[in-house]
Amino acid sequence: MKTILTQPSAGPVINALRALGYNARTAIADIVDNSIDAKASEIDMNFDYNDGNGYIEIKDNGSGMNIEEIQIAMSIGSKDPRHKRKNKELGRFGMGLKTAAFSLGKRLSVLSKQGNYIVERCWDLDHVSDTNNWELYTNIPEEVKVLMSDINNPSGTIVFIDKLDRFMRAGESPILPESFNKKIERIYKHTSFVFHNILSGEISMRINGNAVEPWDPFLTTHDFTNPLRPRVLKDTSGLINVSTYILPHASYLNQTEYRNAGGIKGWNDHQGFYIYRENRLLHFGNWLDLFPKDQASQLARVRIDITNKSDEIWQVDIKKSTVNPPDFIKNQLKAIAKEAREISKQVFYFRTQSNSGDTTIRSNVNTWQQENVENGTAFKLNRSHPLLQKIMKNTSDENLKDLKMFLKLVELGSPANIVIVPKVEEELMQPITDSDKELISQLAGMYTQLVDSDDSNELINIILMTPSMERFNRFTIKTVLEERNYVKST
Ligand SMILES: Nc1ncnc2c1ncn2[C@@H]1O[C@H](COP(=O)(O)OP(=O)(O)OP(=O)(O)O)[C@@H](O)[C@H]1O
Ligand SMILES: [Mg+2]
Repeated sequence: MKTILTQPSAGPVINALRALGYNARTAIADIVDNSIDAKASEIDMNFDYNDGNGYIEIKDNGSGMNIEEIQIAMSIGSKDPRHKRKNKELGRFGMGLKTAAFSLGKRLSVLSKQGNYIVERCWDLDHVSDTNNWELYTNIPEEVKVLMSDINNPSGTIVFIDKLDRFMRAGESPILPESFNKKIERIYKHTSFVFHNILSGEISMRINGNAVEPWDPFLTTHDFTNPLRPRVLKDTSGLINVSTYILPHASYLNQTEYRNAGGIKGWNDHQGFYIYRENRLLHFGNWLDLFPKDQASQLARVRIDITNKSDEIWQVDIKKSTVNPPDFIKNQLKAIAKEAREISKQVFYFRTQSNSGDTTIRSNVNTWQQENVENGTAFKLNRSHPLLQKIMKNTSDENLKDLKMFLKLVELGSPANIVIVPKVEEELMQPITDSDKELISQLAGMYTQLVDSDDSNELINIILMTPSMERFNRFTIKTVLEERNYVKST
C-alpha cells in the first residue's frame, strides 16, 4: 500500500495537548510523580503570584538528568507507553511533564543538575505557535532564570512554569491573590491525599514552605475503624489487593476527626473505591458505575492496589486520574462493594460498631431499627429506647393505647418507609391481609374518637390520607370498614 508522510502541525498539536483535561491539582501531581521516580527525598513546590505574572516551581533533590536525558525528557512522547517500566515507576506515557505543565501555562523551563553538570531546556508555546515548529530553546531565558532558585544539592531538578494563562489567567486579567491562594490550598489538600502513603515514608514535600502532611482516607489508626477481611484478586498482569474499611459512625468521632475524615469533597463523595497505583492514589469518590452513591454507604471506603503492570488492562489514562478495570474484575469488585455498602448501612443507621465494646448501650439509644419485611426492609421505632420505656411505664392504659397508635403512625409516615405504589382502579376489592384489615380498623377507631363527624365518607377520606394507606383504594377501605361495622353498608 502506498503511504504519504503527513507530519502533524506543531502549533495546533501543542495547543490540543493543553486541553487534555487536567486540573491544577492533577497537573501538579503528575509533575511530582517524576520527582518520585527520580528518587527524590525532598520535593518543594512554590507558587508565586508575582503581581499577576505568577510562576510555579517544583524542585527536587532526585537523580537529575544529563544532557541526553533532558533532551529526551522534553520531547513530546519521550518514552513508548508500551515498554515495560521499572518496578514501582509512576511514569508511563512519556508525556506528563509537558502535558501537565502546558495545562497550567505556556512556558516550561527545566534545569537539572548531576554533580558538576547543569543542563537546561525550555519550551515556549508562543514561539512554537509563531514558528509552527517544534523548536525547543536550549537555554532558559534570563528573565526566567532570575526567578528560579538554585539547586544546592549534589543532584536535582527544577521544573519551572510561567506565562500561567491557564492557572491564573496571566496576560489578560489575572485572578485575584485570594483566588490564587485558594488554589494553592486545594493543591495542598490534594497532594496530602494522593501521596499520603508516599508521605508516610521517606519522602517529604513542602508547598510554599509548609510541610505537606499525609491525609489517610481510611482512618486506619482510629480505634473504631473496621477493616474487613482483605481480598486478593488476580488479573493477567498479577495480583490486586483489595482492603475494605468501614469508617466509624459520626458519634464515635470528635468534631475535628469528623471534619477531617470528610476530606476534600465531604463524606458522601468520599465513599467508594480508592484506586492506588504503586502506592499513589489515581482515582476515588465513586463505585465505578457499579452502584450509585448513597448516604448510608458513605462509611465504606475500599482500597484497591494495582501495579504499573496493570496499566494497559486497567486503561490508566495520561492524567493518572481515571481507570477502567476489565469486566471480570468489576464483577468481583461488585461483590466486595455490595458487602461493604451493606455493613456501612448497618453502622450508619444503627451505630453497630462490630469492634466497639459498648454496642448494647449504643444500639439501645437508637430511635430507629431496621426490620426485614416481605419486599425489602422497613424502619421501626425502637420500642426499648430508655426514654420511651419510661414514658410508657408512667402512662395510663387508655393513653398508652393512643401513644402506641401514634408511634405506629410515625413509623408508617417515615419517609424511608413510604413506598410509591400505582393506584388500583376504583370499585374493585384489592387483596388485603388480616393485619392490614386490623390496622384500618384501629385507624377507624382512633379517628372516630378524634373527629366529631358521622360522615362515613369523611372517615374513609382521612384513612386514605394516612401514610401507607395509599396502597388501598376507596372501595377496599370502605368494605373493611363495613365488615368491622364502622360504616353502614350501602
Ligand atoms: N524531576 C525529574 N528528575 C529526573 N528526571 C525527570 C524529572 N522529570 C522528568 N524526568 C525525565 O523525563 C522523562 C519524561 O517525563 P514525563 O513526565 O513527560 O513522562 P513519563 O514520566 O516517562 O511518563 P508519564 O507521561 O506517564 O508521566 C521521565 O521519564 C524522566 O526520565
Ligand atoms: Mg511523568
